Amino acid sequence: MGISVDLPYFPRTGLLEDVAKVYSSGLKQGVTLFAPRRQGKTSFVKHELLPFARETLGWQTIYIDLWARRDAPDLALVEALEAELERQRSGWRRKLKLAKVKARAKTPGADLEATMVPVGFEAEDALENRLAHALAAVVDGKPTLLVLDEVQSLAGVKRENFVAAFRTAIQKLAGNLFVFYTGSSRDGLNQMFRVQRAPLFESAMSLLLPPLGTAFVDDRLAFLADRSRARVSRKALREAFVALGGTPEYLNELVLTLLIANDGNVPKALAAWQAARKEAGAHIALDGLRPLDHAVLALLAEPNHPSVYGADGLAFMSKRVPGQVVKTSSVQGAMRKLAKRGLVAPTGRTGDYEIEDPVLLLQLRAEAKTGK
Ligand SMILES: Nc1ncnc2c1ncn2[C@@H]1O[C@H](COP(=O)(O)OP(=O)(O)O)[C@@H](O)[C@H]1O
Ligand SMILES: [Mg+2]
Repeated sequence: MGISVDLPYFPRTGLLEDVAKVYSSGLKQGVTLFAPRRQGKTSFVKHELLPFARETLGWQTIYIDLWARRDAPDLALVEALEAELERQRSGWRRKLKLAKVKARAKTPGADLEATMVPVGFEAEDALENRLAHALAAVVDGKPTLLVLDEVQSLAGVKRENFVAAFRTAIQKLAGNLFVFYTGSSRDGLNQMFRVQRAPLFESAMSLLLPPLGTAFVDDRLAFLADRSRARVSRKALREAFVALGGTPEYLNELVLTLLIANDGNVPKALAAWQAARKEAGAHIALDGLRPLDHAVLALLAEPNHPSVYGADGLAFMSKRVPGQVVKTSSVQGAMRKLAKRGLVAPTGRTGDYEIEDPVLLLQLRAEAKTGK
């Protein structure tokens, strides 16, 4: 939306306490937190979990965003740990050893930078070895919290043994190393469970992100009242939060819209927000979709919809794709495309999918109602 101001953080009551209990129980080494995108996983980590671990518990913390490097998440993980190790070991007295100075170099000085390798790692080592080595060296007997944000990115890793090697490395450090995984794509996670044959999350306790409710809406109202004379209806803003699928990011944007307009008219601001969103994100997301893709989305948006691959589902979609009998194989193709764009995800039940973005779901339902 282009609005980059972050509104004050609103705590997730009870979640931090639950995480702390898991770690102190000694029963589980990890915690998983799965929730759709934009619901506030990273915010919780940055505003509550990391400060708590560092300041209250006195642990060292390492945060790695695997989503940012989802093209090469295995390398990203290893490099982040090696960088942390390098930072710890050398601090500002950075020691480098000369690895290979090419004999043919005419001006050795100029080539030096490019051929130096930090002490302790060999770039030729297998990635799995580098991982185990860096993790063990970083932990080195110190209580450590490792946060892997959007861990389903690891599902795309081509190396068969990587996730298994990671799991082994973690287990060896039990007692000192605690891991916090966040994830948003059920698709990716299902893949990790199926393909990698590495029950990474067996040693982790699954926690849910407690939904933000009316207390959050009321907090945003107080924020508005502090900064604007506009009168905002509590009831209208609470309803808007529901219409926004309970997504805090979207309510924040709506609150900023109200603030900037200096007008307390919530329905008007909501309409403006939706129009802006259509222009920015939603429009792009649905851009270039074919009639069949739209038909699949329309089916998934139906409450209690029939299976996409069943006779009823195929008939529903055929009605929406003029002059074409919809076949299972083409639905599979459409589903892959929609999943790739993050518009749909498998629920975990065979052949069952759902729409990822709560706002898109509400939008599609509204369109179905008006017969668009
Ligand atoms: N607890 C919260 N209080 C206030 N705003 C929040 C909260 N959680 C999320 N947000 C808003 O939603 C945005 C997206 O949250 P984020 O943590 O990035 O979601 P996720 O990591 O689940 O994709 C944040 O930038 C912030 O504006
Ligand atoms: Mg995030």
